[in-house]
Amino acid sequence: MTNADLEKLVDTSDEWIVSRTGIKQRHIAEDSMSNADMAAEAAKGAMESAGVSHEEIDLVISATVTPDYRLPSNACVLQEMLGFPNAVAFDVVAACTGFINGLTIADSFIRTGRARKAVIVGSEKLSAITDWSDRNTCVLFADGAGAVVVEACDTGSGVLSTFLRSDGKMRPLLWTKVGGTRYPYTDDYPFDKSDKIRMNGADLFKVAVKEMANAARQVIEDANLTPDDVTLFVPHQANIRIIEGVAKRLKIDRDRVFVNIEEYGNTSAASVPIALHEASQQGLLKPGDNVVMVAFGGGLIWGAAAVKW
Ligand code: UT7
Repeated sequence: MTNADLEKLVDTSDEWIVSRTGIKQRHIAEDSMSNADMAAEAAKGAMESAGVSHEEIDLVISATVTPDYRLPSNACVLQEMLGFPNAVAFDVVAACTGFINGLTIADSFIRTGRARKAVIVGSEKLSAITDWSDRNTCVLFADGAGAVVVEACDTGSGVLSTFLRSDGKMRPLLWTKVGGTRYPYTDDYPFDKSDKIRMNGADLFKVAVKEMANAARQVIEDANLTPDDVTLFVPHQANIRIIEGVAKRLKIDRDRVFVNIEEYGNTSAASVPIALHEASQQGLLKPGDNVVMVAFGGGLIWGAAAVKW
């Protein structure tokens, strides 16, 4: 879906969207394609490139706020679709930070010997919870999935450090009100679209730049690195101005910052693993590289991870 397509839906312009967000187009899943369908494609791709079998996977983590069902988890749906006979599968609900949470959990499981090989998928069908008449949000969000496989190893590569933090007080800056058990759909639900994403973009923007920079700085320090040692910086793709603001605070120059927001928009939990996949496909990730990922989203919640590729 291009910006020109959105000009037909709401009072917006390609010029506004590109200059304020960096987004030129985004991908919207067909009605018949569910979140778990996208997640399965991504997981299959990651397992193929890692050369691991379904039997070997003992942990499946799905990060999403748009699961196929309220019950069970998307991860269990994925397990049914792909067949992981020896795994436990569960979801992480941490909005755009979900993939970093998933990676942190998998890292902890592996370090403590509770798992050996994990699949972590970030997947979202945000188009299903987007109000397509709200220009504040509909130009931003999109659908997609990305996945990684992590495994125990002793070669010196792996997760160097992680950082997670949240602040529930700022929940109303980004949320969907109706559809849970506090405000369930009822017969008299007014259909005022309060089951769709509502966002205070300007306030979120300020917190995002500050906390993403803090989180990234923390994992760089905890990994005994400096910003100069970061080979590739992979931030959540919410807004090009946020990405540039964070990189500037960290003094990481533009050629070490991975950006694909122009093509995909904001895919929430899928954004970082999609970016990792593309960076890998483009030959930007070599063994020994220091990769720093950082994300920020509804909760509010934010986090970062430093990884030796
Ligand atoms: O995924 C993690 C969570 N999400 C984020 O981190 C998003 C953070 N926020 C942002 O990316 C930006 O705040 C936005 C892209 C959402 C908005 O950019 P902004 O520069 O903060 O604009 P604004 O909200 O201050 O709005 C400026 C003006 C307003 O008009 P008035 O009140 O000044 O007349 C908006 O109504 O731009 C207007 N506007 C638009 N105009 C054309 C808002 N959306 C649009 C639009 N097209 N799509």
